[in-house]
Amino acid sequence: MDNSNITILKIGGSVITDKSADDGAARTDQIERIAREIAGFEGKLIIVHGAGSFGHPQVKRFGLTGKFDHEGSIITHMSVRKLNTIVVEALNSVGVNALPVHPMACAVSSNSRIKSMFLEQIEEMLESGFVPVLHGDMVMDTELGTSVLSGDQIVPYLAIQMKASRIGIGSAEEGVLDDKKEVIPLISNGNFEEIKAYLGGSTNTDVTGGMLGKVLELLELSEQSNSTSYIFNAGNTGNICDFLNGKNIGTAISGTRTI
Ligand SMILES: Nc1ncnc2c1ncn2[C@@H]1O[C@H](COP(=O)(O)OP(=O)(O)O)[C@@H](O)[C@H]1O
Ligand SMILES: [Mg+2]
Repeated sequence: MDNSNITILKIGGSVITDKSADDGAARTDQIERIAREIAGFEGKLIIVHGAGSFGHPQVKRFGLTGKFDHEGSIITHMSVRKLNTIVVEALNSVGVNALPVHPMACAVSSNSRIKSMFLEQIEEMLESGFVPVLHGDMVMDTELGTSVLSGDQIVPYLAIQMKASRIGIGSAEEGVLDDKKEVIPLISNGNFEEIKAYLGGSTNTDVTGGMLGKVLELLELSEQSNSTSYIFNAGNTGNICDFLNGKNIGTAISGTRTI
């Protein structure tokens, strides 16, 4: 297939859910606003959304990062599916031809890293003008039984496999912030050691690494594909539109110093 010009957009669970809730609480106003911003975009687009309070509290409650549990895996998966349905329905209601793609049904991990993922349906969806919508999920794991698969890990995996040209991670901060709460414009292997101390996990319930996890995933991506990706605030009206229209916003993560 023609893989040129694929955009991957991740929408953080911190934006589309109330992440301080201990069970699924969707921010429908935010989801509808984001859907409207996406509706104007005409290129090939893959959306990945986070789990927010539809996944992290459940994983914590059942201790799924440390042990295998049938009930916890099922409850968490069914919960993130609910959020996915809300997102997909909001997209469709503003004219985006969105279809759900559940990682539990097409990805297998090994020790919490994606080992394989069936991608042919995603390729065909893009060819036919659909927008696949994936999400953080529980997946089968060859070593652990099941494991948590973060949306932040799905993004670079898809970016490499699908040779995406534009990658954006929308979260709840203006970008990656330094100790003065100012946006770090560019992170590369050249300055990662300097800024590493500013990076932490999430202040809310997040079992998958918060901002540090995102930066590590995207730095690895930039090494493997020489791509530049962006971390920006998807909670601000207009930012998703700007990103989709080619504007460079937030923090750029790049393997090289030239962007
Ligand atoms: N240097 C940093 N810059 C910005 N956010 C940071 C930083 N260090 C830690 N964080 C935390 O990481 C959070 C983003 O990660 P997370 O909650 O997992 O978002 P998402 O739901 O979008 O995946 C921020 O809201 C903030 O609490
Ligand atoms: Mg997160």
